[in-house]
Amino acid sequence: MGTELTRRGAGTEEDPDAGWSLPAWTYVDTEFFSEEVARILRPSWQIVCHDSDIPAPGDFQRFDFVGESIVLIRGADGAVRAFANVCRHRGARIVDADVGCAKKLVCPYHGWTYELDGRLSGVPGRTGYGPAFDPVDHGLASVEVDRWQGFLFVRLEDDGGPSVAAMMAPYAEQIAPYRFPDLRAMGRVTLRPRAVNWKIIGDNYSDGLHIAVAHPGLRRLMGDGYGVEASAHVDRMWGPILDLPSANPSERAYQHFLPTVPHLPPDRQRLWTYFKLWPNFAIDIYPDQVDFMSWLPLSPTRTLIREISYAVPDDRREMKAARYLNWRINRQVNAEDTDLVNRVQAGMASSGFSVGPLSEQEVALRHFCGRVRARIPQARLRTAPSAGWSARP
Ligand code: FES
Ligand SMILES: [Fe+2]
Repeated sequence: MGTELTRRGAGTEEDPDAGWSLPAWTYVDTEFFSEEVARILRPSWQIVCHDSDIPAPGDFQRFDFVGESIVLIRGADGAVRAFANVCRHRGARIVDADVGCAKKLVCPYHGWTYELDGRLSGVPGRTGYGPAFDPVDHGLASVEVDRWQGFLFVRLEDDGGPSVAAMMAPYAEQIAPYRFPDLRAMGRVTLRPRAVNWKIIGDNYSDGLHIAVAHPGLRRLMGDGYGVEASAHVDRMWGPILDLPSANPSERAYQHFLPTVPHLPPDRQRLWTYFKLWPNFAIDIYPDQVDFMSWLPLSPTRTLIREISYAVPDDRREMKAARYLNWRINRQVNAEDTDLVNRVQAGMASSGFSVGPLSEQEVALRHFCGRVRARIPQARLRTAPSAGWSARP
C-alpha cells in the first residue's frame, strides 16, 4: 500500500501519497461512502439559495442532503433559520415542496403545528400527552445557517471548520465587484442525476488539464490561458475570453454581444472564473451571470447535480443575448463533462486500475486527495479493506 506509492509517486514528508489520486475502490465502496458522509460531508457547508430567493416571512426552500431533509425558512422577524424537516411527534416528513411560502409548518400526519421560528405551537389532543408534556421541549431541530455575500448555507454538524466567508477570504477582493448581494435568480433550481461518485464530479470540475483536450469550445474561447490554483478550502480556475473570433457561431456571437458591465473593472470584463469550495459545490462567475452548482451524493455511485443561475438585473438586449449564448456554450461543455465523468466511473469498477499519478500541475486534485486522506486514512490503501473496516478502531 503506502510504501509502494511512496516509491513510485512524488510524495512529501507530510503526505507520502501526495503524487497519487485516490484509489478506485473509494469511488464505489459503500463503507467508504458512509465514512465520507460522517467525516467530510455532514461537517461541511452546503449552498442552498440566495437571500432574494426567500424574501418574505414564511418563504422557504427545502434542501435534501445525505439522507437528511432541511427546511431553510425566513421568520416573521426577517431572520433566516434552518430546521430538520422532521416532526417531533412520530418523525414524519413535514414539508414536501421544494420551494414555497408557509404561515406555519403543519405536519400532515397528526396536525402538530410549528411557527416559522420552529416553536411547537399546536398539538391536537394535547392533554393526552400528560401533565409533564411541554411543547417548548419539542420544537423543530435547528440546523446551522451561514450567510456570505447574499448566499445562504447550512451545515449538519459543526466540527470547528471555517465559515464560508473565512473559506473565501483569499478571494474577497476579486468577488466584491460582482455585487453578489444584488443577484437575482434567472430561473429555478435544476436537478440532474448522474450515475457517478460525487468525487468524480468535483475532481473533473477542478481538473485544468482536460480543458484543452476535451472542451474544444473553451479552447477556442480561452486559448491556453486557463489557470488553476488551490488555497486551503477553495480551488480557483479562470480563463480569459479571447478577442480573436471563434469559428463556432454561438461562441463568436457571445464574444460579439457581451457588453461592458458597468460594475466590473476592466480586467474582469472578459474573464470567466470558477471557485470550487470544499468539498462539493462551486460558484461559476461570468461577466454576464453567476451560478452555483452542488454535487449532492446519493450513494457511492449516484449523485444529484443541483444548480441555478443568477444575475444582477440588466435589461439590455445584448446582455440578454450574451446570457443565452453563455447557456448554449456551457450546455455543450456540460455534455462533454458528463461523458468524461461516466468514462471515469466506468474505470473505477475495473480491476485494471487502482491509482494514477497526479501531475505537479494538478494542484487542485492533489489538494483534494490529500484532504480526503487526512480525514479518512484508509484512502491510502490501494485495495478495499475487508468488509467491516469502518467499524474497527
Ligand atoms: S408525526 Fe407529525 S403530527 Fe404526528
Ligand atoms: Fe470539463
